[in-house]
Amino acid sequence: MIDIHSHLLPGIDDGSESMDISLQMARDAVADRITHALMTPHHMNGRYTNHAQDVIERTSEFQATLDEHNIPLTVFPSQEVRINGGLMTALDEHDILTTDAQGTYVLIEFPSDDVPTFTMDMLFQIQQRGMVPVIVHPERNTRLMKEPQLLYDMVSRGAYAQVTSSSYVGTFGKAVSTFAEDIISNGLAHVFASDAHHIPGRSYEMTAAFNKLRETHGGEMANKFEENAKALVNGERLSRFSQTPIKKKRFFSPY
Ligand SMILES: [Fe+2]
Repeated sequence: MIDIHSHLLPGIDDGSESMDISLQMARDAVADRITHALMTPHHMNGRYTNHAQDVIERTSEFQATLDEHNIPLTVFPSQEVRINGGLMTALDEHDILTTDAQGTYVLIEFPSDDVPTFTMDMLFQIQQRGMVPVIVHPERNTRLMKEPQLLYDMVSRGAYAQVTSSSYVGTFGKAVSTFAEDIISNGLAHVFASDAHHIPGRSYEMTAAFNKLRETHGGEMANKFEENAKALVNGERLSRFSQTPIKKKRFFSPY
């Protein structure tokens, strides 16, 4: 399997704290059948800045260390980019890494509780450059939970979405796994990723997520999710699904 979103590089964001931990996380990835992984440190999220060139260098150092330890994981540099007012300038300055060497797909994250008002306009501007935004873990965004129409609008205008494997299997609770399922069953998700951080007790759960997807939606969708991860790394076209707006559930207040 290919993992398009993970925080394995040591000491540069809220992922791995040290090379020892990075190596352990890489072993966990391999145990979960991952063969290739994008290193996607946070960039421009208000707390972490990880410039493209630094990520490239640190990823090649990490690959050398993985090879020394005979861990069969191939790693590529990328970034998880927070949507922000400086993004177009950063693109002009070639400080944004895509998931593919061709410069097509960019992983975009939102603040956990909001979708900024300029989002639709900025996603459009990204697409005007011939690039394609991939929204990471929409299932964990509390604004999207309340207004799922926003995700439908983004995907129907050309964006893709990545659901985190742990979300889908319930590690972040019932509300998140239910919303992940809503996103998937409405054809608004295209790929799984681990978004691995070093959180004791939390494992990769990519195999578990694929097992659940296969059981719930059949092998064809699971195969397309796997192929889409490969397409993101190779700069190829992704499969889409029949897209429908998510119907908002009725919440009954006890008061
Ligand atoms: Fe992440």
